[in-house]
Amino acid sequence: MMKHLKRFLIAACLLIVAVMGYFVVGILARPQPEVMVSTQHPTLSRDSCIDCHAPIAAEWRESYHHKGLTGPFWQRINDKGFADLFERLRLPCKSCHAPANVLDLTAEDHPVLRSDAVALGVDCVSCHVSSRGIMGPGRAVDAPHEAHADARFRVPVRAATGLCARCHEERAGVGRVVSAWQRSEFAAVGVGCVDCHMPRIDAPVVTGGEPKRRRSHRFAADKNIEMLKKALNASIVVTEDRKAVVRVINDRVGHDFPAAGTNSLIVKIIAEDESGQILAEKEHRFGTRELIPGYLDFWPFLRVSRIPAGERRDIVLRLPATPGKITAEFSYRDWFAITDKDVLFASMTRNY
Ligand code: HEC
Ligand code: HEC
Ligand code: HEC
Ligand code: HEC
Ligand code: HEC
Repeated sequence: MMKHLKRFLIAACLLIVAVMGYFVVGILARPQPEVMVSTQHPTLSRDSCIDCHAPIAAEWRESYHHKGLTGPFWQRINDKGFADLFERLRLPCKSCHAPANVLDLTAEDHPVLRSDAVALGVDCVSCHVSSRGIMGPGRAVDAPHEAHADARFRVPVRAATGLCARCHEERAGVGRVVSAWQRSEFAAVGVGCVDCHMPRIDAPVVTGGEPKRRRSHRFAADKNIEMLKKALNASIVVTEDRKAVVRVINDRVGHDFPAAGTNSLIVKIIAEDESGQILAEKEHRFGTRELIPGYLDFWPFLRVSRIPAGERRDIVLRLPATPGKITAEFSYRDWFAITDKDVLFASMTRNY
């Protein structure tokens, strides 16, 4: 009996060692993530774009494109030691966060980390400079540099598939926003990412210039409470058999709601009597649930339950016999909010 157990234990140990060996060899055989010198404009430096186009640069500085490696999220990755760990595992984590130029890439290519000025994140050169020079919508009248008109900057659908898709369609992971958008009604009618994330504003294009109608470079999304309010289409219905149905319809977001990341939309329904005493409540989370909050909060340890574009979800609460009122509260949990607070962005009430 003991002999069998011993043999079994030895076999089990060998198996574990073999499996670990397989993974270690796999990691060591993996090439180091690429790093490359980005294509610079032949005469204009990275910093000069920011100087001359200061009004656009001010918007971009507020965006998470600029904060790609310096914002609170990456800070958290650093603080927890994940940045080092991912580097040892040779994962190309920074490649989309501080990339070399993306305009010359094909649909199969992924961005490559650049070797210069990584603290600027996704910057003007990443998005606008190609091997042909500066690319844009072709609206400039007196630019002191060449400006090649490019459909990716003029046609929203082309921008989505030819520019945003280089980074917002991760092959593995939680950020496949472009294909989610392609399945939506928005894509079918020609509404692209820029229509919601780069709304038209009246502001100068260059330092000291006259205001002009152009698109904002702030790229507001789920960290912006106004965007969250715009995203929500919800209602409360009380049925004859005394149930409160809170219905959330995703027809205002051009992709899943929540879009990506380890984010959640949290819906809380509370039934109170007239004195304010809580009689029944229920909470439901749409989005991404972490296996161990704060630690195993990255792919593949995630359970995803987002609401796809065009779909609706009902949350049902059985109501108590006494009359009262129902409140539905909508909060959003962004990745770093695990250590911070969820943002309550909307609520509605109804008597029953
Ligand atoms: C293919 C491009 C790409 C690669 C590779 C990539 N990311 Fe990202 N990352 C993005 C994009 C795009 C976002 C923006 C929002 C989203 O989709 O969640 C993002 C967002 C993030 C955020 C912020 C989440 C938030 O809520 O704003 C963190 C942190 C992050 N990535 C870390 C990593 C780490 C760690 C790796 C390596 C394991 C990595 N990224 C690899 C494209 C990429
Ligand atoms: C994530 C990619 C991205 C980044 C980063 C970016 N842009 Fe743009 N930019 C665009 C897109 C897309 C448009 C076209 C929007 C439209 O009009 O459809 C655009 C438009 C422009 C225009 C044309 C404005 C007009 O309509 O006359 C200028 C000028 C410009 N960008 C300069 C900059 C500068 C300067 C920076 C850096 C501070 C920058 N961009 C960063 C994507 C980007
Ligand atoms: C010396 C000042 C100056 C510098 C430096 C400069 N720009 Fe411009 N740029 C302009 C002016 C002026 C316009 C025209 C604005 C207009 O007509 O609305 C312009 C227009 C543009 C446009 C719009 C082109 C179009 O197709 O309509 C883009 C994109 C652009 N610049 C990007 C850049 C980038 C990227 C850099 C850095 C590599 C840069 N600029 C550096 C002054 C400058
Ligand atoms: C070169 C890669 C790259 C390209 C091209 C790119 N993005 Fe991003 N984008 C990122 C990364 C990386 C982040 C997240 C940075 C972070 O949070 O750390 C991001 C963040 C964003 C956010 C903010 C998300 C948030 O949580 O606040 C929006 C909105 C966005 N991108 C829209 C766009 C749109 C629209 C386009 C096309 C016009 C585009 N991006 C092109 C890499 C890219
Ligand atoms: C009809 C408007 C609309 C369109 C079209 C749209 N978005 Fe969004 N997007 C939103 C709203 C609203 C939010 C905030 C709520 C959420 O997270 O779903 C958002 C959130 C995001 C985020 C935040 C991700 C995160 O979890 O940190 C990213 C990145 C993003 N969008 C990128 C894109 C890209 C890329 C496209 C085009 C392929 C696109 N969006 C098309 C409205 C839109």
